[in-house]
Amino acid sequence: MNLVFENIGKVYKETVALNRVNITMSSGVYGLLGPNGAGKTTMMKIMTDLIPPSTGRVLLDGQDIRAMGADFRKKLGYLPQDFGVYPNFTAEQFLLYIARLKGLSRFEAKRQTDELLVLVGLQEKARSRLKGFSGGQKQRVGIAQALLGDPELLVLDEPTAGLDPEERIRFRGILSGLSQQKTVLLSTHIVSDVEAIANQVILLKKGSVLDVKRPSEYLKEIEGRVWSVTVPAQREAELVKKYPCSNIMHTDGKSVVRLLSHERPTPDAEPLSPNMEDMYVYYFGRNTELQ
Ligand SMILES: Nc1ncnc2c1ncn2[C@@H]1O[C@H](COP(=O)(O)OP(=O)(O)OP(=O)(O)O)[C@@H](O)[C@H]1O
Ligand SMILES: [Mg+2]
Repeated sequence: MNLVFENIGKVYKETVALNRVNITMSSGVYGLLGPNGAGKTTMMKIMTDLIPPSTGRVLLDGQDIRAMGADFRKKLGYLPQDFGVYPNFTAEQFLLYIARLKGLSRFEAKRQTDELLVLVGLQEKARSRLKGFSGGQKQRVGIAQALLGDPELLVLDEPTAGLDPEERIRFRGILSGLSQQKTVLLSTHIVSDVEAIANQVILLKKGSVLDVKRPSEYLKEIEGRVWSVTVPAQREAELVKKYPCSNIMHTDGKSVVRLLSHERPTPDAEPLSPNMEDMYVYYFGRNTELQ
């Protein structure tokens, strides 16, 4: 499968939400990372044909998705960011309902519903009404409904929001167990999720794609630019003002600051190996003149 964003732009009244996005995705898990308002949800809504782009096209294996209609929707699983459920449905009823909407036979709808309830750990809640579900449990129902019909293309808008750490790990497992043939696009603010799940990371800033590459390639790029500096607490503000910082720890009146700098920031600064949080701060931090 090959999915191409060709010169995609989106303007809402005065807001430019996306600006000439050109990317090509093949199979694998793509992590979409960017601050609030970067345009992630907009990109996903265009990719799922929920809203039209202002410019450009999305092509699936060379075909414009807008012209594919039901053929496209059959291949698609989508978890919206503001996933709402029918409060009076049970988890099972809800999944059966969505399965039927997706065109699955009664038999197949039941088989997949049972299987997915187990997969997301909700088999014991199958007959409970959704209005009594916690945020994380609803999110798991949302993940299950996106997987109905075994779609080739999965678009998940902040799928791990509201999941506790154990559930997040389970979710990572579900994703890595999916067929290698699928194309998965998932947005998240949880940088460690991206590192653990994504083969490729798309960085989106103010509606523009900054880069698309593997987590390890991002890390390589900032190799030698991450430092630990220990200073008396009163000097912390000075450092924070001058450098993008990815962590600050306080001990015995001292501040241990993890920061990004091309040059050794102080004579006694210690070099550190980079992680994805450093990468995030490097691209999106308050102080990003480094790039
Ligand atoms: N329906 C709309 N009408 C007007 N402006 C909108 C609409 N939807 C989004 N926007 C604007 O477009 C920009 C991108 O929004 P979008 O929801 O795509 O960001 P996001 O990256 O998903 O953010 P978040 O991390 O908060 O979910 C924002 O400036 C937002 O205010
Ligand atoms: Mg969003």
